[in-house]
Amino acid sequence: MYDENILKEKSDSVMKKILVVYYSWSNGNTEAVAKKLQAGLQADLVRIETVQPYTGSYDEVVQQGQDEVDRGYKPAIQPLSVNVQDYDVVAVGTPTWWYTMAPAVATFLDAVEWQGKTVIPFMTNGGWPGHVIADIKKACAGAEFAQAMQVKFDSTGGSRMETPEAEIEAWIHELQKSLLEDA
Ligand SMILES: Cc1cc2nc3c(=O)[nH]c(=O)nc-3n(C[C@H](O)[C@H](O)[C@H](O)COP(=O)(O)O)c2cc1C
Repeated sequence: MYDENILKEKSDSVMKKILVVYYSWSNGNTEAVAKKLQAGLQADLVRIETVQPYTGSYDEVVQQGQDEVDRGYKPAIQPLSVNVQDYDVVAVGTPTWWYTMAPAVATFLDAVEWQGKTVIPFMTNGGWPGHVIADIKKACAGAEFAQAMQVKFDSTGGSRMETPEAEIEAWIHELQKSLLEDA
């Protein structure tokens, strides 16, 4: 018979704590990818929300987003329900907004001390991925990075995923190997 407490102590000490943090506005595209990752890594999941919601039509928000990205505007975001400092590994997911991360994600990245953490950058886009992953990495000073992922959805801003499901599964499998098995 094994001792469940010893088993639990062991798994607490070797398992890394993983958090998936994401922002999603249009269709839940980024949320869908975040949920697959959460399931694959047995991670906690939390969504970033702005204090002031984006309430315009799609085209209006596309324009507002352009203005905010151009100005480097970082909107206030609501407090998260978890303390990011409690996690060793943080996956950060964002839709592409004007070739970079959504402004709400820039706000989030600025508020965290990244030294000593491993970040998994991922993003969704409609065919113009720009420099999202590079920008996330720049904003996480001192972090190490696990394999990043770009997931393409349709070019009209809709919810049809064009990246093959198998590519996402392979990415999650790689992360499982590098983050869980050698923990
Ligand atoms: C304000 C705004 C700007 C966007 N800019 C880009 C872009 O530069 N490149 C791109 O490929 N898609 C762009 N898109 C499309 C979204 O990145 C894409 O539809 C994404 O999957 C939406 O994710 P979500 O449903 O999680 O919000 C933009 C969408 C919005 C609303």
